[in-house]
This record gives sequence, structure tokens and C-alpha cells, in this order.
Amino acid sequence: MEIRKVGVVGCGLMGGGIAQVAAQSGYDVVVREINEQLLNAGLDRIKGNLRRNVQKGQMSESEMEQVLGRLHGTVSLESFADRDIVLEAVIENMPEKRQLYGELDKICPPHTIFASNTSSLTIIEMAAATKRQDRFVGLHFFNPVPTMQLAEVVKTISSSESTVETVKRFAESLNKTAIVAKDTPGFIVNRLLVPYLLDAIRVYEEGLATREDIDDGMRLGCNHPMGPLTLADFVGLDTLYFIGNIMFDEFKEPRFAPPTLLKRLVLAGQYGRKTGKGFYEYSSK
Ligand code: 3HC
Repeated sequence: MEIRKVGVVGCGLMGGGIAQVAAQSGYDVVVREINEQLLNAGLDRIKGNLRRNVQKGQMSESEMEQVLGRLHGTVSLESFADRDIVLEAVIENMPEKRQLYGELDKICPPHTIFASNTSSLTIIEMAAATKRQDRFVGLHFFNPVPTMQLAEVVKTISSSESTVETVKRFAESLNKTAIVAKDTPGFIVNRLLVPYLLDAIRVYEEGLATREDIDDGMRLGCNHPMGPLTLADFVGLDTLYFIGNIMFDEFKEPRFAPPTLLKRLVLAGQYGRKTGKGFYEYSSK
């Protein structure tokens, strides 16, 4: 099956990044937000990213205009009626996602593939809200989407081989390396990354070293682009807490259990970079 028309539900950091990358890769893209204000904020973020590319000489002004010409914002799900694939990147809330997929299932033609960008929710539970379990997979991108080279294709117990192959080829057409994983919380990357980040918080909590020395240790000792506490702030402490709880609930292993300090920071509303404070403080810039 050939994918030409792409739908993206959600124009936040992840959905906007996915829409941007798809439009840059030549696809006709419809991206949907729940109201005009959020839609305009998301589209402005994409324009800002593209403008930076032009300023760096990575893209010409006319190329930017062409990319923007392929990108259509909407607040209506009906706009997905002619899409070949719909990528969903909305809030990590299972009842909301199931309701959304139930509506999309009625709007989209039978051939449309559905792919969720969830980081940790179970894909088959979303697929079960539709009559197209065979054409339903996970397609998990990494932040920042335009820069990170990976996409995880998540195959449920009901996904057909041809759907997995089509989505894998689609991810490759976005210039991502596509890896395939089973439908268990965290897939491959977060299954390994989340316990590592939680461990870094635990050793900080027990006073092993300063936050800077823990981060420098992994940044300079292992050549990671960011130390674990900086990365936790970057991912969002609320997100990390949410994923850790889901993984702990599924596997019942202590290494996935969010440490006390993480819970306290989340309860205090200190989510990291997005709120200006987490393990570190960030200026509004
Ligand atoms: N949006 C779009 N592009 C961005 C960006 C953003 N928020 N931040 C940085 N970039 C781009 C820059 O434009 C630049 O692009 P270019 O190479 O084409 O010019 C490139 O990223 C590098 O940026 P900078 O030179 O400004 O900065 P750094 O070299 O310090 O890199 C970083 C920034 C790419 C964020 C790097 O620190 C990094 O790779 N950090 C680790 C990120 C990571 O691990 N992400 C995965 C998180 S886990 C996840 O997403 C899964 C989820 O389920 C939790």
C-alpha cells in the first residue's frame, strides 16, 4: 500500500514535530488540534523550526514555503476522511484515546492505517476501540522529532505483517531508522531508558553526588548528549513519572517504580524544562 496523505492528531511538541517531518518529506499533511488557539500555537512552533533551518542555510525560503504549502491545520476530525495513515499524538489518557479512535474509525475509509505515538500505553487497548485491529500499530518518535533519527514501530498481537511493513517503510521515508518492537510498556527504548533515569534520580536522592556531577559523569564518561537529570527535565518529570508508573504496574519490578523525590517534584508542579524548574532551573528563553 502506498501512503500519500497523512493525518496527525495533536499539534503539541510531538504531533507538531511529526507533522513537520512528514511535510518536509513530501507528504500532504493534515494536522488537527482541539481549538484554533492550540492549532495556531502548534503551527507557529513548526514555522519557527523551519525558519531556523532557513537561517542556518539548511533550507531555502522557497523550500520552506513548499513545506508549509503541504501542511494544513484543522480543528475537525472530518478532515481525516481521505487520509492513508493517521498518526495520533494526543494526551496520554486511555479513555480519551479510545474515544478518539472510535470516532476516527467511523470517519476514515477501511484502508486507513492508525498509528499511536504513545510512549507507554498499550496499543491493543486502543486498537480494540476500532474495527481495524489489523491496521493498527504504534509509531513512537523521540523528542525533538526533527532531529532524533529513530522511530519504533510497535506490533500488537493483531497487527498484520503488511501493516507493520507499510508503517516501517513510511517511517524510513521520513528519514528515520525504524525498529520493530512488541506491544509491551516502553517498547525498546523506554524499557531501557526509564529505569536508567529513575536510577539516576535514586542516586541523587541518596546523596551519591551533586546533580551536576551525576550529569557530567554520564555525559563525559559515556558520551551521552545529556546527563540523566538534564534528560529527565527535558523529557518532563510528569511524563517520566507517568511512564514509570505504567511500567511498574505492568511488570511489578521495583526498578520501574518512580522514586520518592520524583513524585514530590511532580506534586510540586516542577515538571522540568516545560515549567521552568525541575532538577535545574530554566529561564523562560
Ligand atoms: N525542536 C526542533 N529541533 C531541535 C530542538 C527542538 N526543541 N532542539 C534542538 N533541535 C535541533 C537543532 O535545530 C539542531 O538541528 P541541526 O543539527 O539540523 O542544526 C539539532 O537539534 C542540535 O541542536 P543544538 O545544536 O541546538 O543543540 P545540541 O547539539 O545541544 O543538541 C539535542 C540538542 C538534540 C536535544 C541533544 O542534546 C540530544 O540529543 N539530547 C538527548 C535527546 C534525547 O535523548 N531525546 C529522547 C528523549 S526520550 C523520548 O523522547 C521518548 C519519550 O517517549 C519519553
